[in-house]
Amino acid sequence: MLRSALLAASRSDAVRELVERTPLTRPVVRRFISGDDVDAAVATTGELVADGRYVTLDHLGEDTRDADQAAATVEAYLDLLRRLELAGHTGRAEVSVKLSAVGQFLPEDGEKIALDNARRICAAAGAVGTTVTLDMEDHTTTDSTLGILRELRVDFPWVGAVLQAYLKRTEQDCRDLAGPGSRVRLCKGAYKEPASVAFQDKTEVDLSYVRCLKVLMAGRGYPMVASHDPRLIAIARELASGRSKDSYEFQMLYGIRPDEQRRLAAEGHRMRVYVPYGDQWYGYFMRRLAERPANVAFFLRSLVTT
Ligand code: FDA
Repeated sequence: MLRSALLAASRSDAVRELVERTPLTRPVVRRFISGDDVDAAVATTGELVADGRYVTLDHLGEDTRDADQAAATVEAYLDLLRRLELAGHTGRAEVSVKLSAVGQFLPEDGEKIALDNARRICAAAGAVGTTVTLDMEDHTTTDSTLGILRELRVDFPWVGAVLQAYLKRTEQDCRDLAGPGSRVRLCKGAYKEPASVAFQDKTEVDLSYVRCLKVLMAGRGYPMVASHDPRLIAIARELASGRSKDSYEFQMLYGIRPDEQRRLAAEGHRMRVYVPYGDQWYGYFMRRLAERPANVAFFLRSLVTT
């Protein structure tokens, strides 16, 4: 119930204005978001890289209906990639891109604009020696995002995709994307989805995650295990036991289970942290609250006690 309400609120402009205008929200937001600008993003990257972790950076923003805003997002990524190169981080830091932030939902030629914009980001990433992973949004965008992925991979074979285990289609998508050179970030899925397309029960989602992981780990691509769930991490370690440690990686979100992130990195695993930054944090922040009721209590407590 609470999860559904928070995910519905994540798409409400009225609730967004209310939450954004509350100054007391900021300290809680900072747990999950590195800061408002590229300086903060590069500084956070430096800290994570210094203790052996890898990074993927997300310039926050989604559901853009404005071509100028989409173009500004592309410029922000190009600037970020220049800054990462200057700081010497491109060996350990890549970028994650939401296609809806670079034009996918624009009313005219949205998919083509998103493809062209993503191409510019990929070209810039390739030029500084790093990679791009396309985030996955709600199920209405899956076909479009995988179609754009296919086009991008013709010129940039290293572009990665996110697949969501809660979708019933994902096991087949994993089979399609388990080939050589393919990079797949497997997560559970963070949006509110109908029962017609997605498993609703937590156990069913976890079982689907394991089935998908088996396909990816048995394949010839590069699996990226994106979860904080201790049981799934243990299963991933088992399934990866025949693989070399540079042929897969673990991934977690900034601010969530940092001790476990450090522990996996110290054991010699590749551990990548997804670091969001920017001022359009509302949708991302609400999805993090929805994942864990304790976060809502933490948020409400901070409003009362700060
Ligand atoms: P689960 O939610 O069961 O959590 C397991 C444990 O992890 C919890 O018991 C708790 O200890 C901790 N935990 C999890 N979430 C927490 C939170 N918000 N706050 C505090 N503790 C928390 N989704 C999507 O739909 N599209 C995408 O592109 C991505 N991209 C992505 C990248 C990366 C690197 C990660 C790690 C995750 C995503 N996600 C995503 C989000 C993903 O779908 C999922 O919602 C979260 O990772 C939570 O699921 P877990 O697998 O962690 O399990």
